[in-house]
Amino acid sequence: MLVLGIETSCDETGVALYDSDRGLLADALYSQVAVHEEYGGVVPELASRDHVRKALPLIEEVISKAGVGRGEISAVAYTAGPGLVGALMVGATLARGLAMGWGIPALGIHHMEGHLLAPMLEPDKPAYPFIALLVSGGHTQLVRVDGLGEYKLLGESLDDAAGEAFDKVAKMLGEPYPGGPHVARLAESGDPARFTFPRPMVNRPGLDFSFSGLKTFTLNTLAQNGGRDNVDQQTRADIACAFQLAVVDTLVIKCRRALQQEQLQRLVIAGGVSANTELRERLSAALAKIQARVYYPALRFCTDNGAMIAYAGCQRLLAGDTERADTAVRPRWPMDELAAPGAA
Ligand code: KG4
Ligand code: ZN
Repeated sequence: MLVLGIETSCDETGVALYDSDRGLLADALYSQVAVHEEYGGVVPELASRDHVRKALPLIEEVISKAGVGRGEISAVAYTAGPGLVGALMVGATLARGLAMGWGIPALGIHHMEGHLLAPMLEPDKPAYPFIALLVSGGHTQLVRVDGLGEYKLLGESLDDAAGEAFDKVAKMLGEPYPGGPHVARLAESGDPARFTFPRPMVNRPGLDFSFSGLKTFTLNTLAQNGGRDNVDQQTRADIACAFQLAVVDTLVIKCRRALQQEQLQRLVIAGGVSANTELRERLSAALAKIQARVYYPALRFCTDNGAMIAYAGCQRLLAGDTERADTAVRPRWPMDELAAPGAA
């Protein structure tokens, strides 16, 4: 089964072709970072317009790179939510139009399910059941995964998502959008011993997160050291380093707790923040101590991409999912409302 995947939930247009026998045949990604950079964040209307411009040429590029005929494609999978409503509608309309024209089904995919399954694109993939830490610009969630569509939310952020906290701290430090990779780079030359930031909610039982206090703590530390315009370069790096360590430590502690609570040995991390090197290294080291292992996607499949949507669509179709009459996109779509394959 050959599935075309289309991702347009936010500021990346991602397209890919995934084959159930041969794996990922081709993929292409266009990032809108340059469009939104001057505004310091994503401008929804500009995002929609750019998806309109880029999606079709990317689809043509991917089909030609894969060297397949259009008649060989058996379904189109698209991101139906959560995300920006206009951006989602561009992908959904295009996917459904193409599917109708080609006489094949179109399947709406949950964006976070795409992220969660992205490590399955790797040769060394985890077996079910596992715990997934989903850390992106919009989500910080710990999920128990027993199979495709069998997700139990164990904990989540009560306020900012981890990626959102990275982006806001980047802004405070005068770094460009999206801030995560910039804060991470700045942190490399920081002294981890200079500042100690709090690890929010680690002393409370449970698996929820909170990052907004950490953001305020960062802002106060910055203000005490000259503020954004007068702070020296080393202090900026030291603040970035302390912030990153506090986020990473908090995530590591909660992941370990989730594995122990559910008595599982496999952890998957996915979503933009899973690209963070410090997080990957600290998680691997911490889990090795409890005979557990961490799996993550290749770097280019950590952030939004079409391959994860094509893969999720393919697995759902193989498991018996069909096109639904209900075609609405869902800008807000809690993961626990996601049905198992084949369910009405
Ligand atoms: O999954 P994603 O591409 O989009 C959403 O669905 O939100 O995640 C984007 C988020 C942004 O907040 C970005 O700053 C963050 O992931 N991010 C990182 C890194 N790379 C991307 N955060 C920390 N370290 C990184 N290396
Ligand atoms: Zn995402």
